[in-house]
Amino acid sequence: MKILIIGKGYLGTRCAVAWKNAVISDKIIATVKDVEELIDQHHPDGILNAAGVVGKPNVDWCETHQIETLKGNTILPLIIAEACQNKGIYLLHMATGCVFYGQSPHGGPWTEEDYGNPAAVYTKSKFAADLVLSTLPNVGIARIRMPFDSQSHPANLIDKLSKYEKIVDVENSMTVVDDMVDVFYKLLEKKAEGIFHVTNPGSIKHKEIMELYKKYVDPSHSNKWITEEDLVKLGLANKKRSNNIMTSINLKKYGITMRPIKEAVTEALKKYAKGKK
Ligand SMILES: NC(=O)c1ccc[n+]([C@@H]2O[C@H](COP(=O)([O-])OP(=O)(O)OC[C@H]3O[C@@H](n4cnc5c(N)ncnc54)[C@H](OP(=O)(O)O)[C@@H]3O)[C@@H](O)[C@H]2O)c1
Repeated sequence: MKILIIGKGYLGTRCAVAWKNAVISDKIIATVKDVEELIDQHHPDGILNAAGVVGKPNVDWCETHQIETLKGNTILPLIIAEACQNKGIYLLHMATGCVFYGQSPHGGPWTEEDYGNPAAVYTKSKFAADLVLSTLPNVGIARIRMPFDSQSHPANLIDKLSKYEKIVDVENSMTVVDDMVDVFYKLLEKKAEGIFHVTNPGSIKHKEIMELYKKYVDPSHSNKWITEEDLVKLGLANKKRSNNIMTSINLKKYGITMRPIKEAVTEALKKYAKGKK
């Protein structure tokens, strides 16, 4: 299977390195024709859209750069989807689980059938793309959350938490990147249609993560604990972050499973520690 990855950033590159026979493009896409040219050049069996605007240095940037954010996260996926529809190519689009804030209306974990309640510019722009792309055939939408990676990267939750002096102890679902890479490949192979919550089953608290971090990576590490309200009050974030617990109904329909969160996080931390040596 030949996969074309659009978007040569953090997660697109992680997939490109892991997959045999994948090509990754850093071409800036502005039109449907730009994507059709890439398809004609590479003849892929499927496309992963890993391009988007996540905000630099962080997602707060999107709050004041609405047009750039909407162009990158809402209009760009539509452009890529139109080219894929024209050429009959399967598209797997990278989306985010941060479209859910807090408790679901039914009290259980958020599923693919739940409607999002995005509150920030970034999450609204991503949810808008999910809504429209989910009306198309031959398209999969893969929602990931808080990438937790065995390889060091500034966007890896391990790198982020280990650098913060003050951390909020919240409980979340998250995506272990080694597992994400495998699930994405399977979704592309199966040309799976619909929305998929690509998060490891279960949830984990930041306190549990930092205990594991001390156990496997750095026993001398320390940090302070603050409340969610303090995060904004202390000026550490402009906008309250999404915290949530998700589950997947749709992955099972394609026979795809993921490792439980605590097992996957522990393995990732062990590998991360080896990489540091
Ligand atoms: N990282 C996370 O925490 C996270 C969580 C959930 C979902 N996601 C989603 O996963 C996807 C990949 O995220 P990432 O962390 O890998 O972000 P990233 O490192 O910023 O990569 C995104 C890439 O897309 C490129 N890009 C932006 N506009 C483009 C355009 N018009 N044409 C071609 N390329 C374009 C960017 O190029 P420039 O750098 O040159 O602008 C960048 O290389 C995004 O859709 C994001 O919303 C990420």
